[in-house]
Amino acid sequence: MSDKSHWEKIYTNKRPAEVSWHQTHLEKSRELIRATGVGHDAKIIDVGGGASTLVDDLLADGFRHITVMDISPTAIQSAQARLGARAREIVWLEADATRGSLPAHHYDVWHDRAVFHFLTDAKDRRRYVDNVSHALKPGGYVIVATFGPNGPLKCSGLDIVRYTSEQLHAEFGEDFQLLRSAVEDHVTPAGKHQEFVYCCCRKR
Ligand SMILES: C[S@@+](CC[C@H](N)C(=O)[O-])C[C@H]1O[C@@H](n2cnc3c(N)ncnc32)[C@H](O)[C@@H]1O
Repeated sequence: MSDKSHWEKIYTNKRPAEVSWHQTHLEKSRELIRATGVGHDAKIIDVGGGASTLVDDLLADGFRHITVMDISPTAIQSAQARLGARAREIVWLEADATRGSLPAHHYDVWHDRAVFHFLTDAKDRRRYVDNVSHALKPGGYVIVATFGPNGPLKCSGLDIVRYTSEQLHAEFGEDFQLLRSAVEDHVTPAGKHQEFVYCCCRKR
């Protein structure tokens, strides 16, 4: 099964609030985006945003240039339906984060919660990081959240890679400066605890 058909199946068979990674609000992500200090004109991309409500919260926070990218059109449609007329204020991209299709030096903030950790092949991770380098403005921020060293070995039934903040920063390399990191105890809708590690790095 390709990645796309895996995610299409998930979003077709489960409601957004039933998936293990669901949070009513992505507070840690929102906090880290605010901590960058970028203004409301900042271009922000939520990569693998799925059906999450981060986009709703970023609109509520006053950000005006938001892009949501996901490999699953069903996830995108779900977020669009929830937003109603406000969906027209967002740029929606059905795309794969390991394939190049984004404009150069365009975004001020790249956000990814629970996508990078699915990249178990080093070549895919390299392509993903190349995409971040290509699409972020110099001085732009990349915020990535993965399962931490005490987190589960699988997510959504797929193998993942767990990271400490240092290991996650190392994937991005010296072209990126690690600014801050955080650990979160995520409680799934089924009541299981999952350790997430968040990193915010700045492109030099
Ligand atoms: C675990 S979910 C996380 C969703 C959301 N970020 C959140 O925290 O609620 C992973 C998301 O990444 C998307 N995805 C998986 N692989 C992807 C890829 N290579 N490129 C873009 N999106 C991808 C999936 O469709 C899914 O919506």
